Amino acid sequence: MRLILLGPPGAGKGTQAQRLVEREGIPQLSTGDMLRAAVAAETEVGLRAKAVMDAGHLVSDEIVNAIVAERIDQPDCANGFILDGYPRTLIQADAVEAMLAERGQKLDHVIEMRVDDEVLIRRVAGRFSCAKCGTVYHDTDRQPTVEGVCDTCGSTEFKRRPDDNAETMRTRLWNYYKDTSPLVGYYHCKGILKTIDGMQSIEDVTDNIDAIVSR
Ligand code: AP5
Repeated sequence: MRLILLGPPGAGKGTQAQRLVEREGIPQLSTGDMLRAAVAAETEVGLRAKAVMDAGHLVSDEIVNAIVAERIDQPDCANGFILDGYPRTLIQADAVEAMLAERGQKLDHVIEMRVDDEVLIRRVAGRFSCAKCGTVYHDTDRQPTVEGVCDTCGSTEFKRRPDDNAETMRTRLWNYYKDTSPLVGYYHCKGILKTIDGMQSIEDVTDNIDAIVSR
């Protein structure tokens, strides 16, 4: 199964992708995570991307398309993958089509998660994640079962993203509505778009996604 989770920053794409990985046994391909890893490793791509990401702007289509094209050829993607945060522009959407066509593959689902802006801002402001395995938490909405200990890997180290601040979030939202939201129409026209209410609880959103992917 190959699916795209589409939605603004803070919609819950990463949270739901992590749950899908466990249930479907296919990898989560988060371009945000891949770019943050490149920044941390100070690779050439990371050095070019850092300032752009810190300001909340989009990294160039050329860089992101190249990262994804290389990643989907890894053996763990043979049975499918979850695209989280990619594609984000119409150019990237066309690139996915071409990449998959070249490999004789196709997209099965595009799931749009809709959430009101004020909720997105609150979610992003309260987000933190495990420094070791990346499991995503929230100060009030999703805390570790044992305070200070990651549910998934037991690590006691957590981190916050430098772009999760009010000013950068405004830029990220602007870029979403300007560059990414046209993809809703793009995938609607292709007949593979499903829209769900991302304002529900994490569990209810998971149930909605399960209902779509099990069809
Ligand atoms: P990226 O890492 O992709 O960030 P994003 O799209 O802005 O999305 P987020 O990770 O902020 O949100 P999410 O939807 O995953 O929400 P989450 O599940 O964490 O991109 C970062 C940057 O990298 C970009 O700005 C850009 O510079 C660059 N980049 C990445 N991809 C690119 C591309 N394709 N092209 C160009 N540039 C690219 O949830 C958020 C919080 O809410 C968490 O605390 C969670 O616990 C909580 N939560 C989740 N669901 C619920 C719920 N249902 N109810 C209550 N709380 C919830």
